[in-house]
Amino acid sequence: MTTDVYSFYTPERFARFKAFADTKETPFVVIDTQMIDEAYRELTKGFPIADVFYAIKANPAPEILTLLRDRGANFDVASRYELDKLFSIGGISPDRVSYGNTIKKAKDVRYFYEKGVRMFATDSEADLRNIAKAAPGSRVYVRILTEGTVTADWPLSRKFGCRPDMAMDLLILAKELGLIPYGVSFHVGSQQRDIGAWDAAIASVKVIFERLKDEDGIQLEMINMGGGFPANYIARTNDLATYAEEISRFLEEDFGTDLPRIILEPGRSLISNAGVLVSEVVLISRKSHTALNRWVFTDVGKFSGLIETLDEAIKYPIHVEKQGELEEVIIAGPTCDSADILYEHYKYGLPLNLAIGDRMYWLSTGAYTTTYSAVEFNGFPPLASYYL
Ligand SMILES: Cc1ncc(COP(=O)(O)O)c(C=O)c1O
Repeated sequence: MTTDVYSFYTPERFARFKAFADTKETPFVVIDTQMIDEAYRELTKGFPIADVFYAIKANPAPEILTLLRDRGANFDVASRYELDKLFSIGGISPDRVSYGNTIKKAKDVRYFYEKGVRMFATDSEADLRNIAKAAPGSRVYVRILTEGTVTADWPLSRKFGCRPDMAMDLLILAKELGLIPYGVSFHVGSQQRDIGAWDAAIASVKVIFERLKDEDGIQLEMINMGGGFPANYIARTNDLATYAEEISRFLEEDFGTDLPRIILEPGRSLISNAGVLVSEVVLISRKSHTALNRWVFTDVGKFSGLIETLDEAIKYPIHVEKQGELEEVIIAGPTCDSADILYEHYKYGLPLNLAIGDRMYWLSTGAYTTTYSAVEFNGFPPLASYYL
């Protein structure tokens, strides 16, 4: 149950992380942008038919945005603040942006429209009517609900999307309102371990495409397959090449050679593996003289970037340098909030000789950490980040 760091990073790569980390006070995350570049290449090689819209929410650092801008990526943006951040790096035209959040204020839609953005996601009539008023003539795509919440480690599907019959009604209404009914989107859930989830979603999309064409004369042009591609955590997944192969096959089975524009919105799979979060052990204790498990308190927690440990959903591989006999431990953060327990049911094995002051290396933590960090809970500053 201990992590073999070299099954996640080559010795050279980890040595590079560590050499940099050794010069810094914990806690922080170090991100190797070269790994993001490699992940981007791998994704575009696997899906040559797709346009990539990076889901900025995963990590909006200018270093990452600039790299992906230069590689020709597009961007999935969730709020006007992300849009401002994206445009502040310069060199990105608004046709490379999609407003992917289905929950938004009319004035925010207007803000995007005024900045030149013309592609909007929706999943409800009220939002669609807002888009028609605030962003007239724009392209809209409707997000559908998908299955697969059980096999995704960080499910997204219940809150977003609507049933296919409602999606069809919305696309018809979009046309009536003077918008361009552009396509259908879905997100099978983040860190989706069952590739079959895409098969079911693509099949639903196919039905929508056909019915709208046959019954309403609406020819949709685009499928947005969202994110959901895997990072390397403790629970194993197939590799990205297998995802790409299988999902491309599903598309071909349903759409043949007459493929619409395909959009992907990866976040986690592009960024996570490139980050190593480094923390320090603050305290090790037992709750009684005879307690079997030790508690290891460290200087990061749920409020400093590791919120995806909620319900122990994401199990980050943890590396420590000490070796020797392992003991199952409970791992908790440094704040005065009892919700700040990271892993209690899933028992990590850490060496018995682990001591206060030792460092812990949390692997694959490049995505959904820096931005989730609280600004000042218990006075702790937000998680620091460095980009190699
Ligand atoms: C609309 C949308 N697209 C893409 C993503 C990125 O998903 P992932 O990190 O699983 O690649 C998210 C994640 O929340 C999302 O909400």
